[in-house]
Amino acid sequence: MRIAVSGKGGAGKTTLSAALSRCYAVDGMRVLAVDADPDGNLASALDFPQELLDKIIPISGMKRMIEEKTGREKDVSGFFRLNPDVSDLLDRFGVMFNNICFLSMGTIEKGAGGCMCSANVLLKNLMQHLLLDKDKNKDVLIMDMDAGIEHMGRATASCVDAFIVVVEPGQRSVQTAKSVEKLARDIGVKNTFVVCNKIRFPNEYEILASSLHGLKILGSIPYNNYLIEADLMGKGVLDNQKLIEETMRIKEELEKI
Ligand SMILES: Nc1ncnc2c1ncn2[C@@H]1O[C@H](COP(=O)(O)OP(=O)(O)O)[C@@H](O)[C@H]1O
Ligand SMILES: [Mg+2]
Repeated sequence: MRIAVSGKGGAGKTTLSAALSRCYAVDGMRVLAVDADPDGNLASALDFPQELLDKIIPISGMKRMIEEKTGREKDVSGFFRLNPDVSDLLDRFGVMFNNICFLSMGTIEKGAGGCMCSANVLLKNLMQHLLLDKDKNKDVLIMDMDAGIEHMGRATASCVDAFIVVVEPGQRSVQTAKSVEKLARDIGVKNTFVVCNKIRFPNEYEILASSLHGLKILGSIPYNNYLIEADLMGKGVLDNQKLIEETMRIKEELEKI
């Protein structure tokens, strides 16, 4: 199963990605959780202890390694390899905790006219490799992304089994969901779903559902004060039983697709 999570900033992508990772891990699956949000903090949401957080280096920040892989440093003409070998990166830079392997992609720059700098090429290749790979290291891939999914590319997008857009009560979040869904469709994603988050009253859900016409809602997560508190205290979200139970229901829905 390959799941990508997107949506407006603050809607709850990281919270859902972390909770889904937990749900699959407690089921005995090998989970690879990838932070592909430039403003990422998935590892903390996954409760990684500080000594492991200190070990995480975003792939995009490893300039020397990127140069070696893309051959940029040798080539004064400015050309570089478009298909660098990325097959060793997960083993080298993945960090394991609680049966979840974590990998941080770092920032994918959005240069005007589609920036093709070597770091972006490497990240694109890595994303594609992780999605295409039918490998021994993972059963489930969960990718926490931002709302800009353009860099994903067609080959990569078609490998995503479920593309989840997280929506919180508010028309701005609905708008983001609609644009993300359109982008996803344009690049060839098959299954786009919505998860409504931070729902306080039934009418909030109803308004969202009617505004999101046409988009399939996979489930919803109520507003949860403990999540605000956990974030305030710099704690992860995984010991929140309510959230895990709600996410288990979302996972069951995912299994039906
Ligand atoms: N169901 C919820 N109820 C209350 N607060 C939530 C809920 N889901 C997420 N949050 C809080 O909203 C903020 C943004 O969540 P986060 O998952 O980091 O969003 P994103 O990754 O989309 O930017 C965090 O403080 C988080 O604790
Ligand atoms: Mg986030």
